[in-house]
Amino acid sequence: LVKTSHAVVVTHPGIRRLYGDTVEASLARHGFGVDWAEVPDGEESKSLSQAGRVFDRLVECHCDRRTVLVALGGGVIGDLTGFVAATFMRGIPFIQVPTTLLSQVDSSVGGKTAVNHPRGKNLIGAFYQPRLVVIDTATLKTLPQDEFLAGMAEVIKYGVIADVDFFAYIERHADAILKQEPEALEHVIETSCAIKAGVVEKDERENHYRMVLNFGHTLGHAVEALTDYARYKHGEAVAMGMVFAAQLSVLAGRCPQPVADRIRVLVKKVGLPDQWPVRDAQSYIEAMYLDKKSADKKITFILARRIGEVEIVESIDESMLIRALKN
Ligand code: NAD
Ligand code: GLY
Repeated sequence: LVKTSHAVVVTHPGIRRLYGDTVEASLARHGFGVDWAEVPDGEESKSLSQAGRVFDRLVECHCDRRTVLVALGGGVIGDLTGFVAATFMRGIPFIQVPTTLLSQVDSSVGGKTAVNHPRGKNLIGAFYQPRLVVIDTATLKTLPQDEFLAGMAEVIKYGVIADVDFFAYIERHADAILKQEPEALEHVIETSCAIKAGVVEKDERENHYRMVLNFGHTLGHAVEALTDYARYKHGEAVAMGMVFAAQLSVLAGRCPQPVADRIRVLVKKVGLPDQWPVRDAQSYIEAMYLDKKSADKKITFILARRIGEVEIVESIDESMLIRALKN
């Protein structure tokens, strides 16, 4: 990996209480001296001010370029730690140890790191790959069920964008996955990581193709923005967004109705919401334009051609959006 003997683990106090001793013992067995940098729980910690506090801690702990940062937690910890690792001394190595389903199947893979700006999520960041991602699926046992479900939205997304057999596996094994039966859980996490890594390998910097990972996110981001990021988890908003994108795909002639129905049925089966909050169509459309991914005044949609294959579409008639929003 890298010749080093100093690790700083970035985490939340609650995660440290649960897994701190295990992680410290494991690092010590590999010859590491360990320091800790704790940040408060919650999305607010993905901020420049919290990054500043972690930098202070790194200086206090006499870190140098060989120090390894360990991100122990969900996507908030992963994104923040990755951002700090990318910029401290122009870049130091970091390891992702994701402990939420979302971070195990999505945010720990692919090298997007960021903090938020008051005017927008993830506005300040870098593409910076971890040296290693270590996933212990047993950590999900302590994860609240609603957080687990939020991760399931991204899992279903991988089936839709890349792999019909995987989608069918989730349909058949939904109960086992939700009960976290080890074999099903491992299959789901492994396949999700492989699909995401496959996309990122082709287009790391999101010039175009990586956008397929945003299936369900165009409406999802609008739902989150219109409800002040307070009412729904990201995964719940993505679930609604996938149902919407599928319906839009039907209206745009990209796929037959049964494809959209199959997506909606699976979303409901795992217990995710399939209906977006009632708002006038214009506020959704404005929120979609405001999303940073449509800075060039285009709203990009990922549409389904069939389960396992999607298409990136940049010109959708507003009248069609209005019809789809009514569904
Ligand atoms: P999160 O990191 O806030 O974690 C959710 C909650 O679960 C927190 O309260 C956390 O303390 C708790 N938790 C974590 N692991 C636990 C465990 N094992 N047991 C008990 N509690 C545990 O949320 P998240 O959903 O993991 O990540 C969301 C973030 O990820 C967002 O900021 C989003 O922008 C980012 N994200 C990044 C990427 C990327 O590619 N970099 C992709 C998707 C999402
Ligand atoms: N979560 C979308 C991406 O990693 O590109």
